[in-house]
Amino acid sequence: MSARIIDGKTLADSVKADVAVRVQQLKQQGVVPGLAVVLVGDDPASQVYVRNKAAACEKAGLHSSVIRLHADVTEEQLLDEVRKLNNDNAVHGILVQLPLPGHMNSARVIETIDARKDVDGFHISNAGLLMTGQPLFRPCTPYGIMKMLESENVSLWGAEVVIVGASNIVGKPMAMLTLAAGATVTLCNSKTRDLGAQTRRADVLIVATGKPGMVTGSMIKPGAVVIDVGINRNEHGKLVGDVDFASAKEVASAITPVPGGVGPMTIAMLLVNTLEAAERSQQSAASAATV
Ligand code: GUN
Repeated sequence: MSARIIDGKTLADSVKADVAVRVQQLKQQGVVPGLAVVLVGDDPASQVYVRNKAAACEKAGLHSSVIRLHADVTEEQLLDEVRKLNNDNAVHGILVQLPLPGHMNSARVIETIDARKDVDGFHISNAGLLMTGQPLFRPCTPYGIMKMLESENVSLWGAEVVIVGASNIVGKPMAMLTLAAGATVTLCNSKTRDLGAQTRRADVLIVATGKPGMVTGSMIKPGAVVIDVGINRNEHGKLVGDVDFASAKEVASAITPVPGGVGPMTIAMLLVNTLEAAERSQQSAASAATV
């Protein structure tokens, strides 16, 4: 058996086309959705991600700006930049690219972002809203994975979902979203004993460890849907995921490729979150004007 390949690029293009239509509608009301991305330092992978995010914004008609700060900027200087963006009415979404340099407290930086502009969904109040089933912003990667599963007609109701990797960015919010969709969720981490015994129970297996090829075909239940969040470069400089694609595709019923799977969806959902932040700010301005 060879698994169906889940085409994240095509789905992302269709999400972005829908965003572009809604952006035009908002522009007719005089609002241009705006995203500000803050990049500290010169991490090469972060530079690429930020460039791709800005390019996707421009293409869909959103305004984007990138604030580049030197790696040795102080945390207070960064917080001042964030506060300026909080107070800028033309900015509807703020994203501070992670990881930050080691001398900074990422949690403090994220908590300084106005939660209504936190298009990453990383602010504690957004994490809390997600956990209690009333999300304002869903973190972009897990949100994109939910869209992919939906478009593939994968039912999560009563399904066994196993997530490998318990980060705040992917694993934990992914657990909340799949739980809310009716799945029985197992969240594995680096201390999990006998990882294969856990992953082999999964109807839907989601892998986000940052370790190339760590999940192999023998760790997958025949017919499972496999979502690979990893983006790594192997020794030949080729992009590979956290799942060993060659062995996994012989066992799974459907699998995301790397590249062209989850990655494009993450960017598409960032545009959705930014657009919705702008729509909400327009609605609250309109209702304030009528009172
Ligand atoms: N670094 C890796 N992924 C992400 C993301 O989704 N958002 C931010 N801000 N930084 C990241």
